[in-house]
Amino acid sequence: MCGIVGYLGEKDAVPILIKGLKRLEYRGYDSAGIAVMRNGEMNVVKKRGKVKTLEASVNDLGLSGSMGIAHTRWATHGEPSDNNAHPHTDQTGNISLIHNGIIENYSVLKQMLKKRGVTFTSETDSEVIVQLISMLYNRDGLSFVKAVQAALQEVVGAYGIVVMCKEEPGVLVAARLGSPLVLGVGDGEYFIASDASPIVEYTRNVLYLGEGEMVIINKDGYTIKNILKDTVVSKEITQIDLTIEEIEKGEFPHFMLKEIFEQEHTITDTLRGRIQIEEGSAHLGGIQDFLTRIENASRFYITACGTSWHAGLIGKYLLEEYANIPVHVEYASEFRYRRAVIDSRTVVIAISQSGETADTLAAIRKAKDVGALTMGICNVVGSSIARETDCGVYTHAGPEIGVASTKAFTAQLAVLTMFALMLGRMRKLSINDGREVAKSLTQISQSVSQILNTSEEIEKIAKEYLDVDNFLYLGRGLNFPVALEGALKLKEISYIHAEGYPAAEMKHGPIALIDEKMPIVVLVPHDRTYEKVLSNIEEVRSRNGRILLVTDKITDDLKSLSDHIIKVTNPHRITFPLLAVIPLQLLAYHLAVLRGCDVDQPRNLAKSVTVE
Ligand code: AGP
Repeated sequence: MCGIVGYLGEKDAVPILIKGLKRLEYRGYDSAGIAVMRNGEMNVVKKRGKVKTLEASVNDLGLSGSMGIAHTRWATHGEPSDNNAHPHTDQTGNISLIHNGIIENYSVLKQMLKKRGVTFTSETDSEVIVQLISMLYNRDGLSFVKAVQAALQEVVGAYGIVVMCKEEPGVLVAARLGSPLVLGVGDGEYFIASDASPIVEYTRNVLYLGEGEMVIINKDGYTIKNILKDTVVSKEITQIDLTIEEIEKGEFPHFMLKEIFEQEHTITDTLRGRIQIEEGSAHLGGIQDFLTRIENASRFYITACGTSWHAGLIGKYLLEEYANIPVHVEYASEFRYRRAVIDSRTVVIAISQSGETADTLAAIRKAKDVGALTMGICNVVGSSIARETDCGVYTHAGPEIGVASTKAFTAQLAVLTMFALMLGRMRKLSINDGREVAKSLTQISQSVSQILNTSEEIEKIAKEYLDVDNFLYLGRGLNFPVALEGALKLKEISYIHAEGYPAAEMKHGPIALIDEKMPIVVLVPHDRTYEKVLSNIEEVRSRNGRILLVTDKITDDLKSLSDHIIKVTNPHRITFPLLAVIPLQLLAYHLAVLRGCDVDQPRNLAKSVTVE
């Protein structure tokens, strides 16, 4: 979602801010803006559309300055437009602000400010904050910093903000509640951003602002304070574990393709040091202190959104089969608002690539409030969900920049498989069965590389489906969620409508859609569901649907029933979902590229959904 970058130092802020915005493009946005301070003047430029449009205007105007703030906006209140883009400036033209998050009481505050004569120039909730700061600063005579602090005590909702004031030319103030901010501490220069990607090029020294904290930055240093208590907070500088290569495309045309190909080693990175072949188990350090409570849980809830929720569904199959514990999988947006049966023997597992998804974060807060043990499975180290859960496991897939989640999903499946294996061995799984699973996990990367070699073949297949408006994806058991994930990948980046279904459920409705134009992608491993799925394929065939199969063994039966077959070499029944999703990622990717879609930044989507 929205991206924030701010700079204070000796260098020209403009190129740093523009480059920072480009690094944040992956989060999804519809407009961008910048404000810089030079010789007591504050210049603001805002444009609907891409950062390169903003950059062209900034270059035309010859903008420069040693301090500034910049923002990419993903519209919530008010359409994408130049006016609604950030930074927002107060009515005196003295104060500029950028904001991530949502101000829930903006309408009440706006009415109050309007009654006091404030004129608004945008439809956003964010402008309310800067006008409120302005009132406290200009009318009530508070210092700039105090005015920011006092304004934040009035707002209800979520924010990550950075503010600057023309009359305080050497000061940047940033604050967070529910929307992350990272402070980069360089040599006589400071950076503030919504994630570390705009900072990593300049310094590895960072501080993560905590909930309800603000930072006041000037050329001599910074002070972190608790907004409500007004007390100084001391924090250790940490080192960012991120390299430039990880956040650049390199030779790949898109981040998504790079990340699909990275799965050859990211899955191994997730497994590294955790598999115990001899014991037929796994060791997950981040939950070690809570194992007794986990082992004796009465039930698990897995809560997540989107792709991470699909991983959760597969987790349910694995955990119930191996550990024999009931598992409920729920969308975080539903879970947070209903009365689930939770007690102190309940474990709530939150799965999230970003670790910042607003609904998932709210779900674990609720679970903690009612006494559950919370466990996170996150990719981003130090993210809010990772910090707020009682224990957890990192997926270690490296930064995922493409909006469509790929390598994070397979890493989540690797963690869930290890978790089920470990818990299974603690409860009822035999050592021999455990060893088979453990061994198969070590063979995954070979299989991944074989699948990646079929990318060109999949591109050829994609060419045959270019003119199609609808796709159906089918799978059974463990592979039903893979069908859901394949359909999600396709719709989010190619804008082709797609649905995932349990294969047998097709005849209860979706079968009505099948005709000679309709492609049906079916996951057909040779496991206990094979014969059943074969019958479902027959049902499609007899209605002339076009059939694309993903299987672990190409047989004459399957050949005669399908238009295309993709083979996945699979070491174990339970690793099929993790492997079979990769050709589906490639199919979605190639179709989207062939249809001329913006694969890495699909329309309307954001990488990390930090609003409800
Ligand atoms: C996946 O391709 C999506 N773009 C989206 O569904 C995503 O998985 C979802 O928003 C959850 O994000 P999280 O894993 O960062 O919590």
